[in-house]
Amino acid sequence: MKINLANIKKAQKLLNKSECVAIPTETVYGLAGNAYSDVACKKIFRLKKRPRNNPLIVHYYNNLDLKKDCNFNNKFLKLYEKFCPGPITFILDLKRNSKISKIATNKKKTLAVRFPKHPVTRNLLRSLKFPLAAPSANISSKISAVHSTDVKEDFGKKIKYILKGGKSSIGLESTIVDLRNKPKILRLGGLELSIIRKTLNKKIVKSINPSKVSSPGQSKLHYSPGIPIRLNVKKIKDGEAYLMLKKKKPNKVNYFFLSNKGNLNEAAKNLYSTLRKIKKNNYKSIAVDKIPNKGLGKTINDRLLRASKF
Ligand code: TXA
Ligand code: MG
Repeated sequence: MKINLANIKKAQKLLNKSECVAIPTETVYGLAGNAYSDVACKKIFRLKKRPRNNPLIVHYYNNLDLKKDCNFNNKFLKLYEKFCPGPITFILDLKRNSKISKIATNKKKTLAVRFPKHPVTRNLLRSLKFPLAAPSANISSKISAVHSTDVKEDFGKKIKYILKGGKSSIGLESTIVDLRNKPKILRLGGLELSIIRKTLNKKIVKSINPSKVSSPGQSKLHYSPGIPIRLNVKKIKDGEAYLMLKKKKPNKVNYFFLSNKGNLNEAAKNLYSTLRKIKKNNYKSIAVDKIPNKGLGKTINDRLLRASKF
């Protein structure tokens, strides 16, 4: 990807003034602000209509920068070396003298941190003197944005600037692991759990029950296109959009597929944009065909299940 330095400069200038800027990442777009600034973090909560008790995830260029704010252990280093920059978020202990805004953490003593891989955002992070608080760039509880046009659609002129970076290559949010004690997974995401398990060579406790809210943002309704969704549907009802993993013949206008040949990575990349497309076509509800619960299919099913709690 060709990097436009003038655009990065523009984003940098706004962020230096505690303004918010949308940034591309390989998972989904983020709504970014200076993580050391209360003013910037307050703006993020306001724009997203996000409950104040749901802490913000913070993005760093590398672990040298992170060292100023968090303590980390060997498990972290193992995963960092293998997967970062990439689609994994770590819950770590904050250092007492960390400069992270207490608005961002909601005064929690832990911090969710990530090292995004997208070259535009890496370039931006490298040019800044602070890390970026950046939750997904969507209105709270709605579908995440995987393209600058999605961000524009959700926020219009309310955001000062959207740094463009094409379509997010993974299309699902990062996997969240808590490494402070026994490794615990808080959110399925763009990095498969089985791969993390293999690297750590340890059991990973799952804590992704929507009713148990270990990550505040993992509460019930989430990722919602704003219309009802039914799962594992074999026979659709009149007027429903039918969402399928792979192309079916004969194709009908109300059939939407996530991948030509049923590739789950491609399906992940297309999930949110297809849900947005269905909504825009004014369908009143969505029926989803069975999606294999393996690989990224597990994350796709997790998101659809949450979106179905409409
Ligand atoms: O891929 C991603 O992670 C994207 C891109 C933009 O980086 N970001 C993202 O942010 O998905 P958000 O805010 O939509 O989801 C982050 C999740 C939320 O569910 C939040 O509750 C949780 O991380 N979280 C933040 N701080 C936490 C903490 N200290 N302990 C546990 N969970 C935390
Ligand atoms: Mg989100």
